[in-house]
Amino acid sequence: DWTPGNIVADAIARVREQVGDGKVLLALSGGVDSSVVAALLHEAIGDRLTCVFVDHGLLRYREGDQVMETFAQHLGVNVIRVNAADRFFAALKGVSDPEQKRKVIGGLFIDVFDEEATRLEGIDWLAQGTIYPDVIESAGASTGKAHVIKSHHNVGGLPEHMRMKLVEPLRELFKDEVRKIGVQLGLPPAMVYRHPFPGPGLGVRVLGEVKPEYVETLQLADDIFIDELRKHGLYDKTSQAFAVFLPVKSVGVMGDGRRYDYVVALRAVETIDFMTARWARLPYEFLELVSLRIINEVDGISRVTYDISGKPPATIEWE
Ligand code: XMP
Repeated sequence: DWTPGNIVADAIARVREQVGDGKVLLALSGGVDSSVVAALLHEAIGDRLTCVFVDHGLLRYREGDQVMETFAQHLGVNVIRVNAADRFFAALKGVSDPEQKRKVIGGLFIDVFDEEATRLEGIDWLAQGTIYPDVIESAGASTGKAHVIKSHHNVGGLPEHMRMKLVEPLRELFKDEVRKIGVQLGLPPAMVYRHPFPGPGLGVRVLGEVKPEYVETLQLADDIFIDELRKHGLYDKTSQAFAVFLPVKSVGVMGDGRRYDYVVALRAVETIDFMTARWARLPYEFLELVSLRIINEVDGISRVTYDISGKPPATIEWE
């Protein structure tokens, strides 16, 4: 019967049988699926797993360091971190169209991963965090966002020479099952139960052109929002929550002075399937506290708004 322990034992046995004494490469993103694959493969084949973590500089506050702490330090997984933020920012310079930004980020992600993979010798397998809903999704939709969403980690998106044999140990599992086995494998529950995060990361949460200073500001504001949600027991009651950076300036006052600074929008939704969503009815007192903290603590922000748009007609992300 279905227990996380049985599923883990079964998945480990299958991986061992499939890859034999081969070597496996995994693109670790810090997201739930690739994290669980990393933990599972490490358990199954130890040092024969190498993870490449492409840090595009568009992650949440301190997230890159946390990935390294969890996997490299804590679990002893072989992880190569590629600090590619400068390259991503350079490539994004002057690009403001949302789809164009996604293409730039997705394309460069593959290039950087490929460069790193080419340096490694004797890799036989490429591991992917494909889960059951992905299998269904790519069988159906071939146009629109569903396709775009997966373009990051799809084999189809990889260069010809990288089309190695695939190992996809989560292929038959649903998200909640993936989470349970993640905890079983010793991943921190806070990581495993984290809200979804888009592949292009903060690249689509800074509206328009992405600049490093905007990303840095957004990371701080977002971290305050998430931190307060957790402290108030609201994090697990929302399906997804985050801050968005609006590159428009508005007037504010500080002491005797006048300030003219940027705007942050807070977004929090409740949803089952992310296809439709309702804006979260967060308490006013809570929103007030978050707003005050962001304006007081984050340089360059003088106004905070709360997004009260449902999906549809709005999408969850702003881009
Ligand atoms: P939207 O904004 O379309 O988002 O209502 C629905 C869910 O998908 C996530 N999302 C993405 N995930 N790459 C991803 O990996 C993307 O380009 C992307 N765009 C949206 C979004 O965070 C939400 O959970």
